[in-house]
Amino acid sequence: MYLLIPSAGIGKRMGGTRNKLLLKVRSQPIIAWTLQAAAAASTIKWIGIISQPIDWPDFKGILADVNVSKPVEFITGGSTRQESVYNGLQALPAAAEQVLIHDGARCLVTPDLLNSCAEAIRQCSGLIAAVPVKDTIKVVDHHGMIESTPDRRQLWAAQTPQGFNVQLLKQCHAQGISQGWEVTDDAALLEKCGIKVRIVPGEETNLKVTTPQDLAIAEFILSNREKQDK
Ligand code: CTP
Ligand code: MG
Repeated sequence: MYLLIPSAGIGKRMGGTRNKLLLKVRSQPIIAWTLQAAAAASTIKWIGIISQPIDWPDFKGILADVNVSKPVEFITGGSTRQESVYNGLQALPAAAEQVLIHDGARCLVTPDLLNSCAEAIRQCSGLIAAVPVKDTIKVVDHHGMIESTPDRRQLWAAQTPQGFNVQLLKQCHAQGISQGWEVTDDAALLEKCGIKVRIVPGEETNLKVTTPQDLAIAEFILSNREKQDK
């Protein structure tokens, strides 16, 4: 399975001056944890790291430390996640029929989840890992007034990995560009094209490190895992 790792963001909500993926959680940078999970997932045979060239010297140093024994390519990121994934799709080897896309910022993903998504995408055209939402979600207007309360039983929080048939996802990205669609995940492009996307059970601990508080939570989860491994 081919794996693209979008890692080209600037980490605005983290509030630092550099890509948040270079920040350390416990002993190593966020991106190192993500690469470690990808390295340990036996189904993953090729990895594309989508990132800004300014980060490549750091990323290459981190990659050397993680010691990934599979082909790894560096792909230039875009100004949005959507553009970054588009670039990644163009850079996939011609033999790639399916692809998994996993955010560099979801550094707590397990090799098991990557493997189960890699197996499942062989049976469908699109899937995402997701978990049921725990909060009651409100739809709110621009004046801060609630418009509605969707039935929580129908609400799921989208995670990555997300898996797709490569040709189909390329077509949906092309359609997105021609229609000017702006989306925050790839599944949304398939949805807008009227293509069904499957949910596979994600992991509660598979959080996206977005704010400084998430760094602290990630530290906590990783230290618990280390204790369990002892
Ligand atoms: N990403 C990317 N290219 C972009 C923007 C985001 O590859 N132009 C990646 C990020 O590196 C991250 C993933 O998409 O791994 C999810 O994005 P997010 O958590 O929003 O990261 P940032 O965009 O870096 O953070 P922020 O939105 O706070 O600036
Ligand atoms: Mg972002």
